[in-house]
Amino acid sequence: MTVRRILKLGVNIDHVATLRQARREGFPDPALAAREAELGGAESITLHLREDRRHIQDSDLPRVRHATRLPINLEMAMHPEIARIALRFRPEKICIVPERRAEVTTEGGLDVIAKAGVLRKWVPKFSAKAIEVSLFIDPDPAQVKASAQAGARAVELHTGAYANAQSAKKRRAELTRIRRAAVLGRRLGLKVHAGHGLDYENVRPIAGIPEIEELNIGFSIVSRALFTGLREAVSQMKRLLKFR
Ligand code: PXP
Repeated sequence: MTVRRILKLGVNIDHVATLRQARREGFPDPALAAREAELGGAESITLHLREDRRHIQDSDLPRVRHATRLPINLEMAMHPEIARIALRFRPEKICIVPERRAEVTTEGGLDVIAKAGVLRKWVPKFSAKAIEVSLFIDPDPAQVKASAQAGARAVELHTGAYANAQSAKKRRAELTRIRRAAVLGRRLGLKVHAGHGLDYENVRPIAGIPEIEELNIGFSIVSRALFTGLREAVSQMKRLLKFR
């Protein structure tokens, strides 16, 4: 029997920094966004320190840390420089993602099978500092198994293909893939998270998968915040997750 857990919401604040970087201004401030997300009911703050620093900057990390009491989930690629920053900063969790320079956002999950060697080197370093390691993967059983073997505590299932599905049939098929990967992840003792492309219209079926315990959502929440304010946008998303 699956124990139903409370579904937590991690709010990704990169998009606030993207707007700031468009003008290289001091605002809008992702640290303030973290605080507003907390007041709206978020359970964690997600931010991605990219190698190209296109949105979140190194100096944002301590400022976000001071602005909120929520756990910080740092998304990062397996670049030695970023890994060293993360080990010094010590977020509560990291989510290892693939990163390609030309991409608009994280496209596709991490190939944990191909990256087994580098993950075996780095995952224990994070675990030794009590930083929870999650791997951002496609909902593929082989990747889920490889994540457990790599010593990760959690997987984040990429919901992009589900979110972008062009037909109801394709969307149902993607939902089934995510559900099966979530069940397998739990069976292997992993925490199961999900994210990418989730919005107010498509989140409910994903939220209804009992094995998933955390969603990380950014773009749709920050977009709605332009019209409602961030606190309200987060709170509206939280309401959708409550009755799963
Ligand atoms: N999870 C991961 C690992 C991501 O890379 C992203 C995008 O930065 C998200 C969740 C959030 O995606 P979105 O902004 O589409 O909600």
